[in-house]
Amino acid sequence: MALQIKDLKKVYGKGVAANDGITMHIDAGEVYGLLGPNGAGKSTLVKQVIGLLKPTSGTITLGPYDLVKHPAHARQLCSYLPQAQMPIDSLRAREAIELTGMIRGGDGPAVRQRADHLIEALDLGEWRDVVGMRLSGGVRRLVGFAMIAVWPGQVVILDEPTNDVDPLRRRLLWDQVRRLADEGAAVALVTHNVLEAEKAVDRLAVADAGHLLAEGTPSSLKAHYRGRLRLQLMMRPGLSVAEPPEFIASSVRAGHNLVMVIEERDAARAIGWAQDLVDAGTAEEYALGATTLEDVYIKLAGHAPADSLTEGS
Ligand SMILES: Nc1ncnc2c1ncn2[C@@H]1O[C@H](COP(=O)(O)OP(=O)(O)O)[C@@H](O)[C@H]1O
Ligand SMILES: [Mg+2]
Repeated sequence: MALQIKDLKKVYGKGVAANDGITMHIDAGEVYGLLGPNGAGKSTLVKQVIGLLKPTSGTITLGPYDLVKHPAHARQLCSYLPQAQMPIDSLRAREAIELTGMIRGGDGPAVRQRADHLIEALDLGEWRDVVGMRLSGGVRRLVGFAMIAVWPGQVVILDEPTNDVDPLRRRLLWDQVRRLADEGAAVALVTHNVLEAEKAVDRLAVADAGHLLAEGTPSSLKAHYRGRLRLQLMMRPGLSVAEPPEFIASSVRAGHNLVMVIEERDAARAIGWAQDLVDAGTAEEYALGATTLEDVYIKLAGHAPADSLTEGS
């Protein structure tokens, strides 16, 4: 079933609209990324979909179901992995996974079989019988995901599912996210990690200030930057960030980084400028590469995503 959101508005109290006319859909079988800075309105959107918050106006439907009129349906049909860790201190990993599967209405043998499969697929075997309070943040996160994936609803919403998860298991997690979609769920991935989203989603939207600024497949969003390159300059700590030369049209600062989008034909000039800064000791290093979805995000949101520049991907 497809999730359909039309002209959704949510105004808290007398304040500004946290969602200001959002229209989007997620098809069954699709992984949809919702990107945007803090305060963009992502959580507000999600809470309305899962029936925790009543929209000020607009509609949310899942196939034939009106999720606004029937929030109880919403809660039944949607699975949600919140950004905060699941409270599973006193449960063993496998118990937590099986228990949520049962609570969601799965039958015993099928739930156990799926739980076993997820534990294996996410490489959680050594923690199967370890209680939650003894688990590291990343393992806890994966157990939280398995609690959702063991008996998922038609809509699965994952809020920053890879937080604290090590790179190897992140891959395993993405495989299971894809599997949820292949099994027929409409999957929404809320994240500020643009580069990671680029690899995992079919379509995505960039949200800010209650609006969707752009929506499309990763390659359609990047098409705008064809023929351009990204130059990233890492300034020496304590020194101020350099002013880019005039031929560089677009630049953004993020801490000690300066990220610029340049035309291919300016590559030699740009490298010359960057190398001079390195030689002068002003900059530590620079990197020139293909434009990424992050550059699209920077252009739309007007600033770099929270922590992606420091991850060195
Ligand atoms: N319960 C609330 N009451 C009043 N304002 C809120 C509430 N929750 C969120 N907001 C405001 O709505 C806007 C969107 O917030 P939110 O949906 O949490 O964004 P995001 O999840 O993208 O960070 C922000 O300006 C935030 O301060
Ligand atoms: Mg949020």
